[in-house]
Amino acid sequence: MVSSLFSSLLLFTVGVLSGYAPVPAICPNGSLVRPASGLSDKEETYRVARKAVADVNLKAWLTKTNPGFGTDDLPTVALTSSGGGFRALLLGAGVIQGLDGRDSDVSTSGLFQGLTYQAGLSGGAWLLSSFAGNNYPTISDLRDNLWGQAFQDSLLDPEVLLAAEAYIKVVDDILLKDAAGFHTTLTDPWGRLLSYELLEGKDGGVHTTLSSITKLSNFTSHAAPFPVITSLGVKTWLGECLPGPNATTYEFSPYEFGSWDSDVSAFMKTKYLGTSMKHGKPVTTVCTEKYDNLGYILGTSSTLFNELCLSLPPPANSSTSLDNILEEIINHAHEVTTSDEYATYRNPFYEYVSSTATPNVANNVTAQKSLSLVDGGEALQNNPIFPFLQPARNISVIIVNDNSADTSNNFPNGSEILTTYVQSFNHNLTRMPFIPSVETFVSEGLNQRATFFGCNDTSKVTIVYIPNFNFTFASNVPTAQLAYPKNETAAMIANGVEMASQGGNECWGTCLGCALMMKTGQALPDECTSCFENYCYYGS
Ligand SMILES: *[C@@H]1O[C@H](CO)[C@@H](O)[C@H](O)[C@H]1NC(C)=O
Ligand SMILES: *[C@@H]1O[C@H](CO)[C@@H](O)[C@H](O)[C@H]1NC(C)=O
Ligand SMILES: *[C@@H]1O[C@H](CO)[C@@H](O)[C@H](O)[C@H]1NC(C)=O
Ligand SMILES: *[C@@H]1O[C@H](CO)[C@@H](O)[C@H](O)[C@H]1NC(C)=O
Ligand SMILES: *[C@@H]1O[C@H](CO)[C@@H](O)[C@H](O)[C@H]1NC(C)=O
Ligand SMILES: *[C@@H]1O[C@H](CO)[C@@H](O)[C@H](O)[C@H]1NC(C)=O
Ligand SMILES: *[C@@H]1O[C@H](CO)[C@@H](O)[C@H](O)[C@H]1NC(C)=O
Ligand SMILES: *[C@@H]1O[C@H](CO)[C@@H](O)[C@H](O)[C@H]1NC(C)=O
Ligand SMILES: *[C@@H]1O[C@H](CO)[C@@H](O)[C@H](O)[C@H]1NC(C)=O
Ligand SMILES: *[C@@H]1O[C@H](CO)[C@@H](O)[C@H](O)[C@H]1NC(C)=O
Ligand SMILES: *[C@@H]1O[C@H](CO)[C@@H](O)[C@H](O)[C@H]1NC(C)=O
Repeated sequence: MVSSLFSSLLLFTVGVLSGYAPVPAICPNGSLVRPASGLSDKEETYRVARKAVADVNLKAWLTKTNPGFGTDDLPTVALTSSGGGFRALLLGAGVIQGLDGRDSDVSTSGLFQGLTYQAGLSGGAWLLSSFAGNNYPTISDLRDNLWGQAFQDSLLDPEVLLAAEAYIKVVDDILLKDAAGFHTTLTDPWGRLLSYELLEGKDGGVHTTLSSITKLSNFTSHAAPFPVITSLGVKTWLGECLPGPNATTYEFSPYEFGSWDSDVSAFMKTKYLGTSMKHGKPVTTVCTEKYDNLGYILGTSSTLFNELCLSLPPPANSSTSLDNILEEIINHAHEVTTSDEYATYRNPFYEYVSSTATPNVANNVTAQKSLSLVDGGEALQNNPIFPFLQPARNISVIIVNDNSADTSNNFPNGSEILTTYVQSFNHNLTRMPFIPSVETFVSEGLNQRATFFGCNDTSKVTIVYIPNFNFTFASNVPTAQLAYPKNETAAMIANGVEMASQGGNECWGTCLGCALMMKTGQALPDECTSCFENYCYYGS
């Protein structure tokens, strides 16, 4: 007891010194894990409170857009930002700016204030983390006061990194986390370096955790949509190196981490991630806090080191590729193995039998002591739509901003959202509308302009699909570009604003309103008829 207290105290001191290393904490009263039988009480409270705020704003936007809209019953609207590295971050940011009444004056400005949920994956998770983790400043503010400089002098450029003070700090952080008993992987330095570009505050926002967002003023006042980040589980214990098409989808929110999928069907309190758990209970009275470092989570959602399914080459002193530098950093802490290609989490669901799970003997996640997570886009589902098909969230319309690089010149071709449609059946999600083949998507130009899916089907959500299109800038920048001159950062964001407003098309504001209100039974302006003709994809 004394020695465990002593070691806890020691680890606490180490953790506080680092800011990054997780720290021991007395376990809270009450359960840390619950079955996925609905939303947590906290999210439900947020959802209801946010919907009330969103309704006021949505009504104002609709009325401003076209007085023909009846506004007595308003839909719950969500936004998803896809993966695609900095390209996706910047275009996704422009879309937010084009929807944000504080930050633009186009037909769609003010609609952001009417959203209830927002999700991000990989590059989209970088965007969402930077936005939420800094207490929801405007995109212009982030561009001018953080991103512009940080993306220009990117720490992901090996030459910049090796000369940077941050490099030494990151190495220390990794050593301290490892010394505290938490196996570090390439995701740790990756997430730390990204944090310097995305999070304000000391040492690259090292103190910002995902759960700490619940304390920020715009979260407590329900001034912003509820944020969700996604990632995929790899069944490494079955010899998988990549997530299969049926991979478990995990979601992270400021309150909870877990999965609705039947092999897990449970959630853990985000604040206590890293705690050793068994049967849904902490193994000792000492829990873990600060494992949910926001940089680690946004790094998890963008972990691609497993992509080639190769063992890592030994770190070479002469090589100056970013991957090699990350490997060298980990090599200071422990010998690098294939497991370092994944983001690792002590499995909160170890030997936990959720009352809502359908145990699948071949895929038993709950028999594993740790989880190996990767980029949510690895199984060709680059849009984090699944969380918003959950009936408990009562979402009627999802604005899907797809900045994927599917074609040889880095534009989307519909394959990501098609995979989400196909996989929705395997995940028992019944609210995804029909999505046509890639051939149809491309031949009808649905990958170059806004399209509404699910138009006539009230049993499905309505999807407003907004793909990357080069309105004002060659926005098909390769995912691998990890540094942007300031003027390119600005040009990409500006192109995203055009995507939100569809190049300033004068019918678009009303048409978007028609999509939102289509299934509410409220009065619609006459213009909606031609909007549906122009923007709805009918087919099944
Ligand atoms: C847990 O509950 C006990 C008794 O109800 C109380 O004394 C204690 O302060 C609580 N601990 C925490 C961490 O809330
Ligand atoms: C779900 O949304 C519909 C409108 O889209 C609303 O009528 C209903 O009350 C909502 N249900 C809950 C539980 O919020
Ligand atoms: C967050 O709070 C600040 C300060 O109160 C405010 O200026 C800002 O507009 C808020 N953000 C949102 C999204 O409402
Ligand atoms: C790399 O450098 C370290 C000392 O800095 C040395 O111990 C190690 O052998 C070198 N490895 C290779 C592959 O050259
Ligand atoms: C779960 O998987 C492990 C291998 O990781 C296997 O040994 C065990 O038998 C499986 N348990 C069940 C109940 O299928
Ligand atoms: C569409 O994208 C997928 C995946 O990104 C790719 O494999 C496929 O070749 C693309 N097809 C066309 C017609 O562009
Ligand atoms: C995915 O899951 C479904 C239903 O659980 C199953 O029928 C299908 O074979 C699985 N596909 C793969 C590739 O594992
Ligand atoms: C879907 O539901 C069926 C029947 O309840 C169940 O057997 C299956 O495991 C579920 N699949 C997923 C991925 O949730
Ligand atoms: C969709 O609904 C509209 C309005 O009810 C109707 O005019 C149109 O024919 C329908 N389209 C299809 C493909 O069902
Ligand atoms: C967009 O792409 C098309 C086709 O490649 C090209 O003709 C056009 O000039 C591009 N526009 C901009 C603004 O880059
Ligand atoms: C950014 O500035 C450079 C150097 O002045 C110039 O070559 C480039 O065209 C500019 N790019 C944009 C998007 O304005």
